[in-house]
Amino acid sequence: MSLTLRFFHSFAFLFIFFLSTIPALLVLENEDSTIKTMQDFSGYPVDEPTHSFTLTSLSAPFSVDSQTLQKQIDELSTFSDAPAPAVTRVLYTDKDVLARRYIKNLMGLAGLSVREDAVGNIFGRWDGYEPDLPAVATGSHIDAIPYSGKYDGVVGVLGAIEAINVLKRWAFKPKRSLEIILFTSEEPTRFGISCLGSRLLAGDETLAKALKATVDGQNISFFDAARSAGYARYEDDLSSVFLKKGTYSAFIELHIEQGPILEVEGVAIGIVTAIAAPASIKVDFEGSGGHAGAVLMPNRNDAGLAAVELALAVEKHVLESGSIDTVGTVGILDLHPGAINSIPSKAHMEIDTRDIDEKRRNTVIQKIHQSANTIAKNRRVSLSEFKIVNQDPPALSEKSIIEAMEAASKELNLTNKLMISRAYHDSLFMARISPMGMMFIPCYKGYSHKPEEYASQDDMENGVMVLALTLAKLSMS
Ligand code: GLV
Ligand code: MN
Ligand code: MN
Repeated sequence: MSLTLRFFHSFAFLFIFFLSTIPALLVLENEDSTIKTMQDFSGYPVDEPTHSFTLTSLSAPFSVDSQTLQKQIDELSTFSDAPAPAVTRVLYTDKDVLARRYIKNLMGLAGLSVREDAVGNIFGRWDGYEPDLPAVATGSHIDAIPYSGKYDGVVGVLGAIEAINVLKRWAFKPKRSLEIILFTSEEPTRFGISCLGSRLLAGDETLAKALKATVDGQNISFFDAARSAGYARYEDDLSSVFLKKGTYSAFIELHIEQGPILEVEGVAIGIVTAIAAPASIKVDFEGSGGHAGAVLMPNRNDAGLAAVELALAVEKHVLESGSIDTVGTVGILDLHPGAINSIPSKAHMEIDTRDIDEKRRNTVIQKIHQSANTIAKNRRVSLSEFKIVNQDPPALSEKSIIEAMEAASKELNLTNKLMISRAYHDSLFMARISPMGMMFIPCYKGYSHKPEEYASQDDMENGVMVLALTLAKLSMS
């Protein structure tokens, strides 16, 4: 080929190449065709920032089946050791095991892959199309304190399963995996330890060790109880339960408010900014007991009266804090031997105190301790135990998760309000290993921890919609 011809060929090639890029360059100005193809293929926007995945991103219906959700809540409430409408469901009892089975089955029906850890935290996972990214998690608990209601915790578990169903019907494809967690023993009923499952997930080594020597009121060890429910089969070492920080990019919990604010103000969604700092204390007084008729009053050292006096001191110290946010409760008071004609020789009490201000809560604990010593001295009984079971700091919600919940509520035309949580939740401990957010729905008169607890189907539907949309946003971020 002559030089001229070769030059002409090269020039023609470059010219044709240049022409062929013009349409692509024009498209790039407005829209990247590769991205467009990926969007058409997958049905979701590519590389959108956190909150730009919106209700209109997909065209299928975004709807909650609140009737089925209510039916499931009613069915789950039948796994109870108290007559309806009360619910009692205590860790690792037969009813707890049946209720867990019910949840695992629903997780399976929702297409989630289910796993359980050594203490029975249950995980239902929907793999995202980038499964190696930290997942987005949601969940709550299904254990119920004696004679309580059927919505506490349950709305955040069954509601989460329904939120996954909403997303599936919506043809949503998660980028980050979505995971539902059913936490073991949020309530301290059986072993006196609240949020047992989430504390362990957050890597609480002290608790993992203490559980080796922990027994319930019937002297059944934690491990025997766990084994009777099919958990902790082969190990006494619970470190397998610990999750690494960074396992989740976000954790979000849906819960009934357990207070009256949302209902009174007619607000659909409460967005939690912080969870109050809880503490619990076990106290034992011992005296010499004796015959209720024969021992004269000046000669008594009544352990029961010491406990009752301390209960009143708890109230006094809490009120002295001067803040409406400081609360204290003596929820357990057991007298031994528990006979009308016997002076109590032993008194066991459990004290719950909380505040959004940790320092103020700690001052109350110190004052309770001082009073316990003074009362024991004055009444000539011994203070055989003053044990602070837990003294947890408060937790703050993550700004970006608050914003995602606010954006979701707004898109769904639901009113919302920022508020604090005075109750504790597994979220308090998940915040140690993951950015955390929580949302509340109204409940009737703020009732909770009693059989009258109630949330309407409409309010649950709102909560599930906001949860589902927030999960979608966080999954795509
Ligand atoms: C949880 O059940 C709490 O007591 O706050
Ligand atoms: Mn509760
Ligand atoms: Mn709860």
